[in-house]
Order: sequence, then C-alpha cells, then structure tokens
Amino acid sequence: MKSINTIAVLTSGGDAPGMNAAIRAVVREGIFNDLKVLGVRKGFNGLLHGDFVEMTARSVSDTLGRGGTILQTARSHEFHSPEGVKAAAEQAKYFGVDGLVVIGGDGSFRGARDLSDIGFPVIGIPGTIDNDIPCTDYTIGFDTALNTAMQAVDKIRDTASSHHRCNIVEVMGRNSGQIAINVGIASGAEAIIIPEMKLEERPDIVNVINEGIRRGKTHFIIVLAEGVGGSEELKARAEQETGIDTRINVLGYMQRGGSPTVQDRVMASLMGVHAVQTLLAGKSSRIVGLKEGKVYDIDIAEGLAIQKPMDRKIIEIAMNLSI
Ligand code: F6P
Repeated sequence: MKSINTIAVLTSGGDAPGMNAAIRAVVREGIFNDLKVLGVRKGFNGLLHGDFVEMTARSVSDTLGRGGTILQTARSHEFHSPEGVKAAAEQAKYFGVDGLVVIGGDGSFRGARDLSDIGFPVIGIPGTIDNDIPCTDYTIGFDTALNTAMQAVDKIRDTASSHHRCNIVEVMGRNSGQIAINVGIASGAEAIIIPEMKLEERPDIVNVINEGIRRGKTHFIIVLAEGVGGSEELKARAEQETGIDTRINVLGYMQRGGSPTVQDRVMASLMGVHAVQTLLAGKSSRIVGLKEGKVYDIDIAEGLAIQKPMDRKIIEIAMNLSI
C-alpha cells in the first residue's frame, strides 16, 4: 500500500542546466509508481499562489537536453516568513499534495526545511551551478557551467596571446571558489583567485605577470571568483606596475545556460528517482546528495549544518601547474 498519492515538484533559486532532467526523472518515476505528479511554476512563489500544473510523462518529453527550467524559478521573499510558509503548506494540502520535491540551492533548502518544520514532507535535490552545498559532493549544473566557462577562457586565451595581453576572467560561484578553481585548472590559467584562499595565499598579479614575461609567456589569464571581486583594482595594478594591457571579462549568466552535459543529465536523473523513492519509503525532510560516488539522502537540518572547507591540495595543485 502506498502512503502517498500525489507529489509536487518545483525549481527554486538560480536556474542550472540539468534541472529539466531532474524534473523529468521526478515526473516519470512518480508516474511509474502510480502517483499523480503536479508541477509548481515559479518556485515557492507558485506554491504560495497555487500555481500548479498536472504533469504527464509527455509534459517532460524532449526536455533532457534543454537548459533552464521548464517550471521556471524565482527567489521568493514573500515565502520566507512564517505566514508565507504556512500559507504555502496550506495551498499544497488544498491541492492534495502529500510530498514536495524542491530542486535548488542552499537558500531553497532552507525554505524546504521551514516547510518540513511545520510537518510538510519535503525532499531537496541540489541544483545550482555553484557546487557549494557541503552535504553533497555534487550539485546539478556544475559540470555544464564548468565546460561553458572553460570554453570561454580557451577563446579568450587565443586573443590574449595574439595581443600579448592579460585577461581577468570573472566567473560565478557566489561565495564559493569551486567554479573558479576547476575552470582555472582546466584552462591552464596563470593565476586563480578564490575566496577560500587566505590573503597571503592569493597570487600577486604583478608577480604573476612579471614571472610570466621572464618565462616567455605570451598571455596571462587570471581566473577570479566573483566572491572575491576587485577586478578593476587588479586591472589598474597590472597595467600601472607591469605595463601589460589588461582586460576584464565577466562571464556572467552564460554560465547558467546551455544544454546540460552527460554528467548533469545522469546525475539529475539518478537524484530525481532517488527523491521519489525517498518519499515512497515514507521519509520526509531529506536532502538527496552524492557521497563517495553514491546517491544518498540526509536529514535537511543535519545536511544544512555540515561545513566543508575546500580541499587545500587542489589549491596547491592549481598554483604548482600555473608556472
Ligand atoms: O547560485 C547561482 C548563481 O548563478 C551564483 O553563481 C550567482 O552569484 C547568483 O546565482 C546570481 O544570482 P541572480 O540570478 O539572482 O543574479
């Protein structure tokens, strides 16, 4: 006997490539298990205002390869109050929803926790390009964003090299340097600057350029995490103290778009199925994640309390390879 009959799924916070693959997995795994599946449009805003749509196996056809989210997303201020949370849970109950799957980042998981704190069953699936959720080794969208940013840096390098210039490339990641460190290593950046580096660990742009000139380099790519900022100051220093023409490229929202990679499609599919199975097993208030190569689930409050410092080894490797 199933204890639940209807589930709902929403995407919240910044969109990420692979969110559609996760929605598809939730919808199809739900239907496969004879559940009614509702899609909630525009994240927690839609939940609050009863913006539901019934999903069929066909509603998610041809969505695996599409970036963005077919359900749309939002950052809702209205929802994040005790009254908003209560009203959202009441709407969901009114529509007969027995369990909700929330695909999003840590802000969305805090909303999920608030709902589960008042007794509404919620399962979170990590979907953000930032890969900054400590209770999971992977968040959906990260690999696609890395590939997009790496390809952009490869192109910037061609022109930097032709003009013997320095390009400071700012990548996304909010307060995390995960995108920057990985893109920097993958594109052979001359320097990477991330928030997780102590001040004394951060490479000095003037030294990097002067050393590079001495070693015969024809370009200088500095990958800068948006969480550090200060690109204008770096540019001014580079130009004044080395004489090298320096440009700033903010990659911005292009990192959030595009067709998801194999890794994001597969990971989203596995996590989406796991979320539905977790609800069917009668569990609630869980975050789905990846740990030691396996999809697992953890209590939301426990998951949100975990802290995971960046692996120092990867910072060291990035530095050693940039000579
Ligand atoms: O969390 C994903 C992300 O793209 C971050 O890397 C970035 O800091 C932020 O969202 C931008 O948010 P918004 O879409 O609200 O401008």
